[in-house]
Amino acid sequence: MTIVELAKTGDAEAIAAFANGSFTHTFGTIYDPEDLATFLAGWNPPERVSAQIASDDHDIALVRGGAGEILGYIKMGPVDFDLPDDQRTDDAVELHQLYVAEAAKGTGVAVALMEWGIAWARERASILYLTVFTENHRAQAFYRRYGFYDVGRNQFRVGNHIDEDRFFRLDL
Ligand SMILES: CC(C)(COP(=O)(O)OP(=O)(O)OC[C@H]1O[C@@H](n2cnc3c(N)ncnc32)[C@H](O)[C@@H]1OP(=O)(O)O)[C@@H](O)C(=O)NCCC(=O)NCCS
Repeated sequence: MTIVELAKTGDAEAIAAFANGSFTHTFGTIYDPEDLATFLAGWNPPERVSAQIASDDHDIALVRGGAGEILGYIKMGPVDFDLPDDQRTDDAVELHQLYVAEAAKGTGVAVALMEWGIAWARERASILYLTVFTENHRAQAFYRRYGFYDVGRNQFRVGNHIDEDRFFRLDL
């Protein structure tokens, strides 16, 4: 059985390192190294991760391997990207990040984290949003399996580079 645990502030450094490694592994070749470095420096600094874990409005959950290493994490919180007027509501939360180690893909780690995230969202809102890179077909297929659907475009900045993202919605 896959155990999902709530992150503690002491996990912030490890989550930050895992997040940056995972982002680089997934998307690193797309960007100019300078843009990537600028983005990573501001994306999940340990102090922000720690503050989010300690806060009332964000939560991070983890799955670990046998040696205690992180196999994946999910970060949930308030919506923090610009929704178009027809989607704007106070009754929504956002799945901010879901990253799973290469060796743990296809093993159920992402499923366990997603089920935890959807339950988290259901306790707080009736809509769950996320943004996903247009070319990230694996993630999009994974999200659609839960009933997420594409509702529009969103821009995602990596240094000076602007990516075309989609934003997805799940009615809870
Ligand atoms: C996105 C992620 C969490 C999904 O977890 P996972 O364990 O890989 O999920 P699955 O193995 O079930 O794959 C999801 C779907 O993509 C398909 N898939 C597998 N490899 C693929 C590939 N290279 N290209 C496109 N689709 C692919 C799977 O067959 C599955 O499709 P199905 O639902 O029709 O069966 C995980 O791949 C991940 O951490 N990716 C890197 C980080 C990332 O992109 N995070 C999301 C940012 S928005």
